[in-house]
Amino acid sequence: MDCRFEHPGSFDCLTPRTILYTGKGGVGKTSVAAATALRCAAAGRRTLLLSTDPAHSLADSLQTELGPDPTTVTTNLEAAQIDSQHELERHWHGVQEWLGDLLAQRGLDRISATELTVPPGVDELFSMMRLREHHAAGNWDVIILDCAPTGETLRLLSFPEAARWWLERVVPVERALMAAAAPLARTVLDIPLPTGAVFSDIQQLSANLIAMDQILRDTRHSSVRLVMAPDRMVIAEAMRAFTYLNLYGYLTDAVVVNKVFPEDVGAYFSGWRAHQQEQLELVRSAFEPLPVLELPYFDREVIGGEMLELMGDRLFGGVAAPDATLHDTITQAIVSNQDGATLRLTIPFARKQEIGLRQVGLELIVTAAGRRRSIMLPPTLAAYKPTSATYEDGTLEVSFTRAS
Ligand SMILES: Nc1ncnc2c1ncn2[C@@H]1O[C@H](COP(=O)(O)OP(=O)(O)O)[C@@H](O)[C@H]1O
Ligand SMILES: [Mg+2]
Repeated sequence: MDCRFEHPGSFDCLTPRTILYTGKGGVGKTSVAAATALRCAAAGRRTLLLSTDPAHSLADSLQTELGPDPTTVTTNLEAAQIDSQHELERHWHGVQEWLGDLLAQRGLDRISATELTVPPGVDELFSMMRLREHHAAGNWDVIILDCAPTGETLRLLSFPEAARWWLERVVPVERALMAAAAPLARTVLDIPLPTGAVFSDIQQLSANLIAMDQILRDTRHSSVRLVMAPDRMVIAEAMRAFTYLNLYGYLTDAVVVNKVFPEDVGAYFSGWRAHQQEQLELVRSAFEPLPVLELPYFDREVIGGEMLELMGDRLFGGVAAPDATLHDTITQAIVSNQDGATLRLTIPFARKQEIGLRQVGLELIVTAAGRRRSIMLPPTLAAYKPTSATYEDGTLEVSFTRAS
């Protein structure tokens, strides 16, 4: 439902609903993002679909030409493939010149020096910053992001915290120091000093990152949907992603299991189907209580409007609206403290005596009321063991302390 009618005059309704799709490469992120966007548009929502994955395939999926700025795809839908190189030049030019000079002076040729000034995986970060500007524009009810594969996307999660640190501690001090020391340093040292342009780039970048983080952390409007195929390795990566998203306070509101073989798959694939059904059980146990949306392996590639609409029908047929928040609370939280860490988990409707805990490597298996939940612990907890647990008001708290 359009919230402008639901809550007339409410300022909050001006904030667009933002949905990020991520998952391992090839699982169907782009297709599912495009299918969702088409469905939102068909429901009358002004929708913007942005691809921030440097390996763009959104234009192929939609069968239209796309550029870095929004282009109309159909009624209520515009889409763009953000050019990370262009964004990088816009935001990072000062730093790049300075670092390039520095490395060139150390004997590196100019082209390698320029390449080295961009940490790997950062391309997407610059692309994601376009989100901030579209978010603020007031033109959109829904913004959907087709993100890079999980690994890269997750690496970005810690950047805003680093940025905040830079902005609060390093930048002001460095600025003052540089102003005082630059004339002397210039004559004594043989390295080029960072100029005002460098600091202003870093400052701008940090501010942008923090703003982007605030958009994504606003769990009333933003959520992530993890796309996966029913394969053990793909699911394991999605479970790790889920843990990190929870850890950093980002809401995941649904998981999408794509490419599930249908029942009438025939003898050749029947073993595969049985295996996939087992994997689906694992998905339910790992992501509970999130809704698990299933999609069949279609008999054709999902390309163009017709197939994307079919995918959208199958995906949201049983659900309210494609842009609804399908689950509204973060179900796991890991809080570190002086002695170790506490994992907080929502397990409704269980009885204390029914809860069991077992740890296998980095996987924590919780059994409650006959159900199993597998949680992938972050590697930082590798040296810790669960030492106590409490269960109250539907919340299980597990305390970890360092194993000596
Ligand atoms: N449910 C499906 N049935 C059949 N083909 C699919 C399905 N989902 C995706 N595909 C195809 O799989 C390929 C990869 O999908 P894509 O959405 O580009 O994945 P990703 O963005 O995760 O890399 C594409 O050729 C797409 O058409
Ligand atoms: Mg893709």
